[in-house]
Amino acid sequence: MKPCTIIIFGATGDLSKKKLLPALYHLDVENRLSDETRIICMGRREMAQEDWLSQVTEYVSSKARDGVDTVTLKHFLSKISYFKNDINDAGSYQDLNTLLMDPAQGFSPNIVFYLSISPSLFGVVGDQLSAVGLNKEDKGWRHLVVEKPFGYDQKSAAELELVISRNFTEKQTYRIDHYLGKGTVQNIFVFRFANLLLEPLWNRNYIDHVQITHAEQQGVGGRAGYYDGSGAMRDMIQSHLLQVMTLVAMEPPADMNDESIRDEKVKVLKSIRPITEDMVDNHAFRGQYAAGEVDGVQQKGYLEEDDAPQNSVTETYAAMKVYIDNWRWRDVPFYLRTGKCMPESKAMIAIRFKKPPLELFKNTEIGDSHANWIVMGLQPDNTLRIELQAKEPGLEIKAHTIGMETVESEDSQHKLDAYEAMILSAILGDRSLFLRADEVDLAWKAVDPIIEKWSKEQDFVHTYPAGTWGPEQVSQIFDDSCHQWRNNI
Ligand code: BG6
Repeated sequence: MKPCTIIIFGATGDLSKKKLLPALYHLDVENRLSDETRIICMGRREMAQEDWLSQVTEYVSSKARDGVDTVTLKHFLSKISYFKNDINDAGSYQDLNTLLMDPAQGFSPNIVFYLSISPSLFGVVGDQLSAVGLNKEDKGWRHLVVEKPFGYDQKSAAELELVISRNFTEKQTYRIDHYLGKGTVQNIFVFRFANLLLEPLWNRNYIDHVQITHAEQQGVGGRAGYYDGSGAMRDMIQSHLLQVMTLVAMEPPADMNDESIRDEKVKVLKSIRPITEDMVDNHAFRGQYAAGEVDGVQQKGYLEEDDAPQNSVTETYAAMKVYIDNWRWRDVPFYLRTGKCMPESKAMIAIRFKKPPLELFKNTEIGDSHANWIVMGLQPDNTLRIELQAKEPGLEIKAHTIGMETVESEDSQHKLDAYEAMILSAILGDRSLFLRADEVDLAWKAVDPIIEKWSKEQDFVHTYPAGTWGPEQVSQIFDDSCHQWRNNI
């Protein structure tokens, strides 16, 4: 493991407390950070080093998988320093540069800049780093990690891209979609390309439709202020669910090189059939939770959440039908849906196969055939279920559904958080888990017409009681009257 310096902008923020610092701690425990690797935590406030370290101790202790022991914690804390940084102040970056370049300090010139700050500040941070030459790779590599949201539509994402690319090249830029860091999501790739059995069936000749679901029991909680300007289509479908879809739909890459993988994902996004304004109602549906009960607990409606504007029509549930117009997938609907305040927290992919070409058992007790399914649970567990029809025991020719199922529950040692994989890849310079600019652009292109139409329709949104699977009227996007959501694995 080569040493590097990890500089977190916005280190005192929520993401850093809940995800980044615990992930770095776990990487250290796993010996994935070299001894000389150091972490500089940037924050606006003046803070004594000891005070910061006691805060880090608190964040890490509350998330550590197997608890913390004093030796490992001490080892981790010895890597950390706090640096007061005023994001707009040039002097602050000069001080940072002086610190980093001072040989007595021993900071590695290979640097990960992690921007856990509002995207509106990406520009100023990039400009300031560049003003002191910290974006230049003459002494060591420089990787810039940026968090979503990457814009709120195609145009704003392009503007953000311009701002980033003023100072950092595409090769230096690591755009996070934390779904790609989940082991279960990476398993889609392994499941597809490490098995020969599936490949002949994985296309429009055998697959009827694909469902990708992300459901969560939580409401927006204290995030309504942010969430209201976003909504489920931007927050989940444009990013995470379209990414999962590309992994289900992509062609095998030429090799495991990061660009080869991203090229194949981009081809899928490029092939998405455009949705014009008049097609939106047939392709997308939105809903907002009203008061209800989730898992026995009373939940207030979205409009009653703190900071949710009165009369807001922001969707907390969104569904979308996507067609991928290529040889493999033409006319196979991919149904994507996500919702807050759902009965369960789970994410899964359900693939329904076509029925056999001949209804051989029509006039027997078996009757009309049932379609086969492959269901992959992504969370909470890594589950795989294949459903087949088999003869029931007995004298009659009767069939029933049998499921072949595996559940790979992760033991605590392997229950990795997505951020561990993401940070490690950013250190190693592997961009396969990160989004390329064209991926972001094409994902916005796919959802923009929907978002635009919805933004004009401000007087009505369907509601659903918290604790249910969303409004029933969502069925208007289904192609076939026999299509329905599958909620169980
Ligand atoms: C985030 C969204 O990107 O993903 C949240 O902003 C959502 O609204 C979260 O809750 C879901 O992630 P996970 O890993 O909990 O499924």
